[in-house]
Amino acid sequence: DKPVYILGIESSCDDTSAAVICDAKVLSNVVANQEVHSKYGGVVPELASRAHQQNIVPVVQQALSQANITKEQLSAIAFTKGPGLMGSLLVGTSFAKSLALGLQIPLIDVNHMQAHILAHFIDDEKSKKPTFPFICLTISGGHTQIVKVSDYFKMEILGETIDDAVGEAFDKSAKILGLPYPGGPLIDKYAQLGNEKAFQFTKPKVGDLEFSFSGLKTGILYFIQKQQRINPKFIEENLNDICASIQYTIAEILMDKLKKAVKLTGIKQIAIAGGVSANSEIRNRLQLAEKHFGWTTFVPKFEYTTDNAAMIAVTGYLKYLDHTYAAISVSAKARLKV
Ligand code: KG4
Ligand code: ZN
Repeated sequence: DKPVYILGIESSCDDTSAAVICDAKVLSNVVANQEVHSKYGGVVPELASRAHQQNIVPVVQQALSQANITKEQLSAIAFTKGPGLMGSLLVGTSFAKSLALGLQIPLIDVNHMQAHILAHFIDDEKSKKPTFPFICLTISGGHTQIVKVSDYFKMEILGETIDDAVGEAFDKSAKILGLPYPGGPLIDKYAQLGNEKAFQFTKPKVGDLEFSFSGLKTGILYFIQKQQRINPKFIEENLNDICASIQYTIAEILMDKLKKAVKLTGIKQIAIAGGVSANSEIRNRLQLAEKHFGWTTFVPKFEYTTDNAAMIAVTGYLKYLDHTYAAISVSAKARLKV
């Protein structure tokens, strides 16, 4: 059989990414982060679309050249159809359509949330692959879901957040602490030097597999405001301990829910996916669960946690094998379920 080369394009939020894979092996995975948002404390949609527009051609060119292939060698083009910011999605969608049309090759639409999960099927000798069925905790800037994965494209949400996503909990907490966007990775960094038991935050009370993070955020805000009134240097003097305590609370919440999911489904194969699965505490906790609870756990390689086009390409590859192509009239969708 001839090798299959897929170009993946991701532009759902604030990262412009292109990747080339050969079968399920990643040849290149280029990600252009958008600096413009950091000073606003969050992604500004209008600026994101404009930056995608500027980045998309050079990023695709770089992905092709790093993979050492020409666009004429491509078998198909996979792109993120949604969910995400409409203006951002439109850039990748239009570009993918035009290129597929120009090259006369199949176009494949990809669900971003499925792709985060299917990143586990990237062919990489060092990482083991889950078998079906498994449970995936998808944690990102926009979503927090416990998904039962029965097959590549047979996924069922068992529970999700009723308000903020866990990435937002990290980013909004970071903002309260005066850290730039996205604050998740910074909380992770400072937490490594802090005492996780220094401060206690209340965990939310919600249904079995549901999540809620808006109360936690408010709790953190009031606590910090109160402490700052007593000592205006409170944040400065306790940053590491505050970050460690926030991260500990979030990891506790996630692990509690995973334990419930195992109890309810009897499935002990547990994966994590999405930007927040880059978090070192969450990764450690999951690894420990192998020993403590007898779970088999799957933690994605660091570069496939936050938004990237390799996960879009590998999802495209799985659809390509089934000849599941998109019509050229396909359109981006801001809201899309797994
Ligand atoms: O999956 P992703 O790149 O984009 C979305 O689809 O939302 O996730 C981005 C989120 C942001 O909220 C970011 O702060 C968070 O992932 N994140 C982290 C870490 N790395 C990224 N949160 C905690 N610890 C990290 N190390
Ligand atoms: Zn994402």
